Amino acid sequence: MPTPGKNDTLNGNFQGQDILSLSQFDQKSLTKLFKHTLQMADIAKNAKASDLLKGNIVTLLFYEPSSRTFGSFGAAVKQLGGQTIEIQNPQQFSSVAKGETLEDTIRVFEAYSDAIVIRHSEAGTASNAARAAEFVPIINAGDGIGEHPTQALLDLYTIYEKFGKLDNLKCVMVGDILNGRTVHSLLQGLSIYKKNTIYLLSPEKLRLPKGDFSYYKELGLNLIEIQSEKDIPHDAHLWYWTRVQKERFASLVEYEKVKHAFILTPNLLAEKGNKHMIIMHPLPRVGEILPEIDSDERAVYLRSEIRNGMYIRMALLGLILGKIK
Ligand code: NCD
Repeated sequence: MPTPGKNDTLNGNFQGQDILSLSQFDQKSLTKLFKHTLQMADIAKNAKASDLLKGNIVTLLFYEPSSRTFGSFGAAVKQLGGQTIEIQNPQQFSSVAKGETLEDTIRVFEAYSDAIVIRHSEAGTASNAARAAEFVPIINAGDGIGEHPTQALLDLYTIYEKFGKLDNLKCVMVGDILNGRTVHSLLQGLSIYKKNTIYLLSPEKLRLPKGDFSYYKELGLNLIEIQSEKDIPHDAHLWYWTRVQKERFASLVEYEKVKHAFILTPNLLAEKGNKHMIIMHPLPRVGEILPEIDSDERAVYLRSEIRNGMYIRMALLGLILGKIK
């Protein structure tokens, strides 16, 4: 199946489509997805039996570690009465260990299933998988430092749930802006709507590359790089905190130097926060948000973000597999 070009937006037509990047999305598609996500929440919350995906099998092919994305895709399929083939670490537990190519692996699992969800350590792998697949859609569950579209979809849904809009927002994104694929997809997603301002705070070496900075600006985002917590505006709608991506560093020493450059503490929240904001994090966190923050009602990372991740994946699968319109 073709890799989307810049202008290949879904335009509300999900059936049979690969989901590789937030660049495929437009307001119409997001509105449709969110409408179905609300219905999926109803199915899941009220333990309503659904057979929407009965007879469907979805392959989860995860070359990199995952808790939430793997778990929530699996749960999403099962909530809708479908089944999964679950392969974690194929480098060890499949013919990949014998040297099988990605292309061959994809051709095999498309014969067994109706969609393939793939996570890989190299940017571009989901697109390569989509080129190899002849019959089934590929969903990118995170490709190296590239993108993580379904995380951004749940992030956008969570923001929409709280503020009832996705435009005119003031966002603060903190941490590993260079390597954080969830950040890249979320920036792309926020650019679909007008007048969004994003404050970016990261260690010097983990800033957005210049080319990417101009790219998102051209898409219409008002991007502002800030140097320290002192520059965080008081009236932000959300703080999107992220982990420094240890696995992307060539040197552990370099990682250690920056891993805790920015820590969200109760003091910082008291100084720079406001009562209407939300605190987001794609998880896992490794010390950059102190546990004292968890009980604050503005913290949504262990609450609605987790649940929304399953609901949005239910809706996305239903749409891609043509079970809902
Ligand atoms: C993220 C990822 O894998 O990119 N996790 C997730 O899927 N929610 C974030 C991270 O690993 O830091």
